[in-house]
Amino acid sequence: MASEDKKEHVQEFKLDPDSELRFEVESKGEKVFLILKAGFAEVFGTELVKGKQYEFTAGAKIAVFSWQGCTVELKGKTDVSYVARETPMVIYCNCHAALEDMRCDAEKENKRGPIAMLVGPCDVGKSTVCRILLNYAVRMGRRPLFVDLDVGQGQISVPGTIGALLIERPASLDEGFSQEAPLVYNFGHKTPQLNSTLFNMLFTQLANSVKEKIETNKKTKASGVIINTCGWVKGEGYKHLIQAAKAFEVDVILVLDQERLYNELVRDMPNFIKVVFLPKSGGVVERSQSARAESRDQRIREYFYGTPKNSAYPHSFDIKWSEIKIFKIGGPALPDSCLPLGMKAEDHLTKVVALTPNPGMLHHLLAVSYATKEDEELILSHVAGFVCVTNIDTERQILTLLSPQPKPLPNNLLVLSELQFMDSH
Ligand SMILES: Nc1ncnc2c1ncn2[C@@H]1O[C@H](COP(=O)(O)OP(=O)(O)OP(=O)(O)O)[C@@H](O)[C@H]1O
Ligand SMILES: [Mg+2]
Repeated sequence: MASEDKKEHVQEFKLDPDSELRFEVESKGEKVFLILKAGFAEVFGTELVKGKQYEFTAGAKIAVFSWQGCTVELKGKTDVSYVARETPMVIYCNCHAALEDMRCDAEKENKRGPIAMLVGPCDVGKSTVCRILLNYAVRMGRRPLFVDLDVGQGQISVPGTIGALLIERPASLDEGFSQEAPLVYNFGHKTPQLNSTLFNMLFTQLANSVKEKIETNKKTKASGVIINTCGWVKGEGYKHLIQAAKAFEVDVILVLDQERLYNELVRDMPNFIKVVFLPKSGGVVERSQSARAESRDQRIREYFYGTPKNSAYPHSFDIKWSEIKIFKIGGPALPDSCLPLGMKAEDHLTKVVALTPNPGMLHHLLAVSYATKEDEELILSHVAGFVCVTNIDTERQILTLLSPQPKPLPNNLLVLSELQFMDSH
């Protein structure tokens, strides 16, 4: 019966040139396997190897695109699976070609390559287009930097952070881009709204680090940077985009889907910044709040435990309260009348507050800071990584931490994140 069941769910698709197979794995379903039988195909810019079995887990939403035409097989239950002939891939590829021209020019003149920022509302494929452009660049032998400013659905480190990653090989289908030595800053919230002042400070700091980093490697300098952003494009969110464009000194802004945003940026950006409109793919799937929360959770789980294919074994250890110092960024707001002389009302947002370990910290992530001093440095330093508080013993004054690395911690200064993780292993 079981084998019959499986047989039922083997589907074969023949793709014409420039078409794509879109499929979704059931959100609570079992794995789905994809095999390229003949021809050439890619998933978000990563080439498929013929005959290799690729597996996709519950909730995955995938497009298998072919420039030349191909035959692929899907094994397992999918929610949706269909072949689409209308895709914006040619436009995305032209966009890559334009960036590639800029890289060639930069290389010749030993100048900085293109810094491109992807913007657009929620669920238009920003992260996917970043991935496609980075994959194409690295397949041409480039070594671009990927900057992720999306604290909610980012692809570097854990949620609640922003960061930069050097891309040296195409993304793997199950694990995305290899996370070797990313540069990570802890914001500590799921959306930038929760502390705009801090968010602004952090991406400005990241922009400075990126500008330095890019100068140290000739190849990366010519390859440039691709910046991903979150879907908050109105009001304050729009202001952040403008400020980020300035801080990173972007050359190109790629606007996905929204003409209003495109027009606003054309109006507000100086002429030397190219603002380009890109249509969204009909395949991009909207995600509910709960799907977003689930994917955040998944990212944190992977941070500690790895992926099903490449599992990691995190460490759990006790640490005395006296061995560490925990801080949070941002204190309670004070009414104007209570503010000390010379202090602005928004200053509380970047206040460094020392905390005593307490039961409220249970399940929270703590950023292990590289800061050496207990002042502003704690805000602006990048982080070594994250640990999760899995137990608090107030009597013995001991914290139990889940950590990707064994004891000791690289630093004893920790910063509390709003992000939580229930360790159910
Ligand atoms: N052509 C496509 N066919 C099928 N699924 C796609 C396609 N392009 C993107 N997707 C899927 O759609 C979902 C949303 O895409 P993506 O995450 O790139 O959007 P986004 O604009 O970055 O969203 P957010 O606002 O959450 O950051 C993802 O699960 C992605 O795998
Ligand atoms: Mg995204």
